[in-house]
Amino acid sequence: MALTGLFLCVFLVIHLAGNLQLLLPAEQARVQYNLYSEMLSHNILIKVIAYLLYASIIAHAVYALVLTLQARRAKGAQGYAYDKRDSVSPWYARNMGVLGALLLVFIVIHMKDFWYQYKFTEMPLDAAGRKDLYAIVAAAYQEWWYVALYVFSMFVLGFHLLHGFHSAFQSLGAYHSKYNRWLKWAGRGYTAVITIGFAIIPIYMYFTQNPELP
Ligand code: HEM
Repeated sequence: MALTGLFLCVFLVIHLAGNLQLLLPAEQARVQYNLYSEMLSHNILIKVIAYLLYASIIAHAVYALVLTLQARRAKGAQGYAYDKRDSVSPWYARNMGVLGALLLVFIVIHMKDFWYQYKFTEMPLDAAGRKDLYAIVAAAYQEWWYVALYVFSMFVLGFHLLHGFHSAFQSLGAYHSKYNRWLKWAGRGYTAVITIGFAIIPIYMYFTQNPELP
């Protein structure tokens, strides 16, 4: 779980860096984003990493399900006689399964709307004859409820990462009372950059490119 989780954390950094191009002035963003997406989709190394990514998402989810079922079976129907977890761990650490399931729903919707369209459907072309992925993304973020769905999902992602990031390092053996505090702060910093970075994109595109706004 820890290895696939950290691999997904690295993906998020790269994915965010690429998508921040959407914050450029509209015409420059269209040219640059469409060129960037085309370059990625023709690179064999990126293709191999993408398959590794899909496998990691599935492995991470399946393994989480197996662990949850095992823990439930170990606990038995009665539950623990002495259970003080509420007072020692935050709510999001105890609900990683629910947060993960919500994220999986988000990823399915997200990939259907952008990835599937880009790879498998007829797309409008930009002035340079490239698939106009920028137009698809910009059109999606004209709808306030779609922007709200993304912002909500980034909150879910944030709480999942807040526990998942440092817990993954601990699972891999990086646990020392001296460094644990630093690891927690690194996790908080990472979470803030990723969630705020992703959430800003739909909000910015909604307010700067929505023709229906005065
Ligand atoms: C504002 C935020 C985001 C934007 C604008 C965005 C945009 C996109 C676009 C346009 C694609 C299709 C491009 C392609 O396949 O070449 C894509 C693919 C993908 N996105 Fe996002 N994304 C965002 C956030 C996220 C988040 C938060 C996650 C994960 C939690 C995520 C996971 C993925 C995955 C797994 C793929 C398929 C990757 C691939 O095949 O290369 N995205 N995204």
